[in-house]
Amino acid sequence: TGLVTLDSGYGNTAAYKSAITYLDGEGGILRYRGYPIEQLAEHGTFLETAYLLIHGELPTVDQQAAFKDEVTRHTLLHEDVKRFYDGFPRDAHPMAMLSSVVSALSTFYQDSHNPFDEEQRHLSTIRLLAKLPTIAAYAYKKAVGHPVVYPRNDLGYVENFLRMTFSVPAAEFELDPVVVNALDKLLILHADHEQNCSTSTVRLVGSSQANMFASISAGINALWGPLHGGANQSVLEMLQGIQASGSDVDTFIRKVKDKEDGVKLMGFGHRVYKNFDPRAKIIKSAAHDVLSALGKSDELLDIALRLEEHALSDDYFVERKLYPNVDFYTGLIYRAMGFPNSMFTVLFALGRLPGWIAQWHEMIKEPGSRIGRPRQIYTGVVERDYVPIESR
Ligand code: CMC
Repeated sequence: TGLVTLDSGYGNTAAYKSAITYLDGEGGILRYRGYPIEQLAEHGTFLETAYLLIHGELPTVDQQAAFKDEVTRHTLLHEDVKRFYDGFPRDAHPMAMLSSVVSALSTFYQDSHNPFDEEQRHLSTIRLLAKLPTIAAYAYKKAVGHPVVYPRNDLGYVENFLRMTFSVPAAEFELDPVVVNALDKLLILHADHEQNCSTSTVRLVGSSQANMFASISAGINALWGPLHGGANQSVLEMLQGIQASGSDVDTFIRKVKDKEDGVKLMGFGHRVYKNFDPRAKIIKSAAHDVLSALGKSDELLDIALRLEEHALSDDYFVERKLYPNVDFYTGLIYRAMGFPNSMFTVLFALGRLPGWIAQWHEMIKEPGSRIGRPRQIYTGVVERDYVPIESR
């Protein structure tokens, strides 16, 4: 088929030029707008990182205050949005609720439909950042059958989300600074990762000039899959499965190596990182710190550590350059914070949102940007004549 070449899974095809995130898979390097994630995670805040990704520079004191002020002013959801949750089944997966409600925001903000209207682009950005934590907390409330808790704009971004999620009208609620700080860091570490599946989805949908809500909703659905952001939930389920079968790590590793029923070591492997995932390095030590600061011990952490140790010294994993990725230890931290497994990928989505938004803006503003339209190698029958139904 002429000049068309097959590149399964886009392993070697750059679809875009981007100035947002630098990733060196061999060196285990990840930088947002040139800043190493290690520094941002240690010194920065999530909102500051969001500003950096979207605007290209770290905010000044005034810019930061204005940004925070704008984001907090839009945290409330239209009251009619609440009714969507009434319609969802109680056991609905929160990721399905998240993508549906984000998509539904485009019915409330119809002025946002023209992606070339700069003012509307800005408003959609602020609305998404402001409302996603509220949407996520409402999804959690639906699952546990509690009344929704409205946002409070005197609180910080992460504080507000935690309060909307875990507080109930019947009791006092106290924010734990350990949890606030750890969640803020985790969100920073998830904030962008160049052309991963969900981000490329956002860009591909956006390339048709679909609005930002529609594009981000598609990204949330792409993130949900267990090979992508859904891996954090799958890791926890895998650890619980191993625990239920007597914590036998050797047998599990053997199953993975034999590819028994397609069993994989979830939270391991990455398309681009071939030595280590720099996010996983930070998160592994955070898991220890957070669990001990919260005074929680978790047998699942021991299982995870043993799994990692076995895998890293096993030829199967060494030859294939499989290392723990960002999702291997996050679930253990989220669990210690009190989140159910089904909320883990929602937390990934909250973190990834600024990256999706930044990439959507970059795509729309790129001069000569074209609609995304991959080619294919056709493998079907070349041509045949129609056969009347009686003769088939
Ligand atoms: N457990 C066991 N074997 C694996 C794993 C794993 N987790 N990952 C890859 N392999 C094997 C795979 O079977 C293949 O072996 P063989 O050559 O014998 O067929 C070889 O390693 C190469 O794998 P691949 O599937 O071609 O690699 P990929 O680049 O297409 O996939 C991946 C990358 C992340 C989807 C994959 O490693 C995987 O499925 N990991 C488990 C799911 C997971 O943790 N995903 C989170 C990724 S990081 C978060 C994010 O999405 O940003």
